[in-house]
Amino acid sequence: MDLSRHAHRKDEHLSLAEKFYTPTAASQFDQLRFIHQSLPEISLTDVDFSTQLGPLSLKVPLMIEAMTGGSPRTGVVNAQLGRIAAATGMAVASGSQSIALKDEQAIPTFTSLRENNPDGLVFANIGAGHDVRAAKRAVQMLAANALEIHVNTAQELVMPEGDRDFHWLDNIGNIVAALDVPVIVKEVGFGMAQETLQKLQHIGVKLVDLGGRGGTNFVDIENFRRHQKELNYLDTWGQSTVESLLEARQQPDLQVIATGGVRQPLDAAKALALGARVVGSAGQILHSLIKTDEATTTAMLLDWQVGLQTIMTLLGTTDLTQLRQQRLLLSPELINYCQQRQLTY
Ligand SMILES: Cc1cc2nc3c(=O)[nH]c(=O)nc-3n(C[C@H](O)[C@H](O)[C@H](O)COP(=O)(O)O)c2cc1C
Repeated sequence: MDLSRHAHRKDEHLSLAEKFYTPTAASQFDQLRFIHQSLPEISLTDVDFSTQLGPLSLKVPLMIEAMTGGSPRTGVVNAQLGRIAAATGMAVASGSQSIALKDEQAIPTFTSLRENNPDGLVFANIGAGHDVRAAKRAVQMLAANALEIHVNTAQELVMPEGDRDFHWLDNIGNIVAALDVPVIVKEVGFGMAQETLQKLQHIGVKLVDLGGRGGTNFVDIENFRRHQKELNYLDTWGQSTVESLLEARQQPDLQVIATGGVRQPLDAAKALALGARVVGSAGQILHSLIKTDEATTTAMLLDWQVGLQTIMTLLGTTDLTQLRQQRLLLSPELINYCQQRQLTY
């Protein structure tokens, strides 16, 4: 594809993600409830929410998920996201580096993420069609601590210029075997089911980002870019973030990042209680950055951390292992989902 069109697409994604942003998400966190504990017998300062993702230690179990890079405007956003990550101690992922692998001029729009977050955790990001050489180059470009490989069939198929061939599994297996940083296989908002997770585990994948339905919706975004909305019927496609978490519980050896429609610390706490090691957010952070500014967005994410500590205190859980032992109440709809999918909770 023409490189200037590719860069333009990156700008359109930012604008359209914001156009379709809604304050309430359909990720189904509202269909889960914690049980309040009146006598938690801990103090807020006892709470330690540090977490482990493969070999990586994260001070904070929240991360800024993959969004952008590839055009001058998105290079500025990556610089902002890098500074926000550094100020909040959160890991941050780059948007797909595909364009920078084809055009060296685009590289600075990605490296601004690392330059502004020299000591933090930065994850590189490529599509699942790239080979081992490209994967290594993407990691090296950002001195990345991990590589995300996104799997985005629904987005590609709705995108007029998107891929139509999806033989990815062997390629992902080769990258996992060849890289010396952890590899995370990541959905982009359509969720993952047991069948997918089993296939990934079979080829040696240990880390996944479930990227569930309910937040940023790439069917809406790509449909809008088509200027014809004939694929609108796919806009509820996929498993919600909560459904994906329930699916992933059946593969306890996989470590999970939960992303998709996270809007507030209570959503994050529920995702962590359902088994996520880390909770990611993209659309909400972008919305804050566009509607307010970098300082306000940094403050929001620091507030999320205090909010998470507050919820863990209410539950009497001093760490994430204890939080994972909390049993949530599921709505009848989620119970029905578990029954039909034969998921145990
Ligand atoms: C503007 C924008 C661009 C995105 N670009 C990428 C990308 O390049 N690679 C990727 O893996 N995910 C990408 N995503 C998907 C997010 O990382 C995330 O999986 C998805 O948006 C669901 O999370 P959310 O509901 O918090 O936005 C993008 C999301 C947004 C909002």
